[in-house]
Amino acid sequence: MTATALGAPAERREGRQKVSGGARYAAEYTLPGRAHAWPVPATVAHGRVTGVDTAAALALPGVLAVLTPGDAPRLATPEDATLAVLQSPDVPHRGWPVALAVAETPEAARAAARAVRVDYAGAPHDVTLTEGHPDAYAPEEVSSGAAHVEHGDPEAAFAAAEVRVDAVYRVPPLHNHPMEPHASTAHWDGDRLTVYTSSQGGTTVRSVLAQLFELDEDRITVEAEHVGGGFGSKGTPRPDVVLAALAARHTGRPVTLAYPRRDLPAVVGHRAPTVQRLRLGADRDGRLTAVLHEVTTHTSHVKEFVEQAAVVSRVMYATPALRSAHHVVPLDVPSPSWMRAPGEAPGMYALESAVDELAHALGTDPVDLRVRNEPGSEPGTGRPFSSRHLVECLREGARRFGWAGRDPRPRSRREGPLLIGTGVAAATYPVQVAPSTATAQALPDGTFTIRLNAADIGTGARTVLAQVAADALGVPLDRVRTEVGRSELPPAPLAGGSSGTASWGWAVHEACAELAARLAAHTGPPPAEGVEVRADTTGKADAESPYARHAFGAHFAETAVDTVTGEVRVRRLLGIFAAGRILNARTGRSQFTGGMTMGLGMALTEHSSLDPAFGDFTESDLAAYHVPAHADVPDIEADWIEEDDPHLNPMGSKGIGEIGIVGTAAAIGNAVHHATGVRFRELPLTPDRIL
Ligand code: MOS
Repeated sequence: MTATALGAPAERREGRQKVSGGARYAAEYTLPGRAHAWPVPATVAHGRVTGVDTAAALALPGVLAVLTPGDAPRLATPEDATLAVLQSPDVPHRGWPVALAVAETPEAARAAARAVRVDYAGAPHDVTLTEGHPDAYAPEEVSSGAAHVEHGDPEAAFAAAEVRVDAVYRVPPLHNHPMEPHASTAHWDGDRLTVYTSSQGGTTVRSVLAQLFELDEDRITVEAEHVGGGFGSKGTPRPDVVLAALAARHTGRPVTLAYPRRDLPAVVGHRAPTVQRLRLGADRDGRLTAVLHEVTTHTSHVKEFVEQAAVVSRVMYATPALRSAHHVVPLDVPSPSWMRAPGEAPGMYALESAVDELAHALGTDPVDLRVRNEPGSEPGTGRPFSSRHLVECLREGARRFGWAGRDPRPRSRREGPLLIGTGVAAATYPVQVAPSTATAQALPDGTFTIRLNAADIGTGARTVLAQVAADALGVPLDRVRTEVGRSELPPAPLAGGSSGTASWGWAVHEACAELAARLAAHTGPPPAEGVEVRADTTGKADAESPYARHAFGAHFAETAVDTVTGEVRVRRLLGIFAAGRILNARTGRSQFTGGMTMGLGMALTEHSSLDPAFGDFTESDLAAYHVPAHADVPDIEADWIEEDDPHLNPMGSKGIGEIGIVGTAAAIGNAVHHATGVRFRELPLTPDRIL
């Protein structure tokens, strides 16, 4: 191994531990005297708890306690209202926890939870998102800025356009469902709280618990050494960690709460459904003259969250007239939140489907149409791009996929009962970065230790941070250790918004560069206690950039549609990305193909719905909510083009955790149109819709 560790396909350092069972997850901390908790979810969609009868539950063997809204320990009012659990009898949505059973074993806790009798005063509820819902309003902001961006006269430009597409696309609610459910083990020692929790950001968990339990942060330890996925749902603390801490305080025992799979959708956020109207106007040469992207989505009555699906139209294509706008309807639904590429994933499904419809209307190749509308600067702001290689991604993808030989006519390829089609779509995801701290220590034996409270949620964060360190220190990779996932380490931001590696890596790079300089100024080995340098990128990583910074990509899909069964199978999926420097070829590829696989699920199988009568998600476990299995993903390939962008961070990297899911569903949907000649505008493309 040479000193150029960056970009190398280094293996995940914790891989062996994970596959051998040695890696411990939050529910696996078997502290002495540990008890287990099980939640009681509300069975009404709106109303209040009028009584909780715990007698039958408490009479069961091994049951220690049942916490209710009446007797659970009090919390300070959280900033995030979804964490105010067992604090009030109000029921804002079905599945909201209304009691918590604690027992010696998970089985006893489950039996006790089922024996708890809850009486409610029900109130009318509404969980159905419709366009033109009377309660819809225009929010001020979405997470990336203004909720409504407009320039030119989009209505007039659209009305005057020579060629028009006007279509409505629908994406249902979707669930994150990480392999490891949300789980926490909590333990009080006097007024010291220790939690082992499954989180994308332990630094936030500690500060939120400190506020809720009114403790100094130095009285709280949060450990999240191994995390079995999150996809956004573990980006903020969830009720599991609060309930485990409440139960541990109430019983005086360490308590583990592994939130039951079927109850997760109601308490950990979901991708809110979107109804997206796309209007594209173009001249006969295929130059866009108007882009109108209008999104209606839902939020809960607990807090406002807006799935910012229209923001992609501010980034993608040159147009003299643009409207990108959101409306949100508060319903009696569980609170939506982040799910991998929140906004971009459903937004690019709609936009890239509409662009395909426009290509078809014009009789233009869909790759060429995109190239023709490549903007010189970011359409929504006019800022220059720090780097943008979408065209190169499209061209390289087309070359490798064999796009040139494609007959553009729909229904032109048939194999017995199968109709075969190919489709393309673009991908984009913003570059986000946050300040972080990190320390780098040199030891007399010639090794180095990097420390920061980063979260390795399965991405290979430990490994890539060691690569960043080895590169900055100019030493072989095997001389660098990484310690992450503990709150006593230097504070670091969350693994979210595809910003983890850029944010943490920046601080690691700075600490290591400074350490290397210090070591170079001295002769002889470091003293016994080592030499340590601390870096803090506050003021750098959060500095406003004059550039529009986004990653881009292009997806190509080949599908076979069975005209007898209505089944759609993806035969080939190719993604080519431009995301700055790729810091680890192996784990990077895994991020891209993982995202694409999730996009395949979004296109073909993943579907949740809200039952209007009872107000709950009807597809709440993995038997009903279908994620892709290996057999669904026969030939999936991700690659990237070299992109040298000096306006990012010292590593030159953009985020790669989310862009893989963006656009995949559109490429598959466009391939299904090419196969069948039928335009389906509602996901997923299940046989009942296809037939
Ligand atoms: Mo990601 S949805 O920002 O964790």
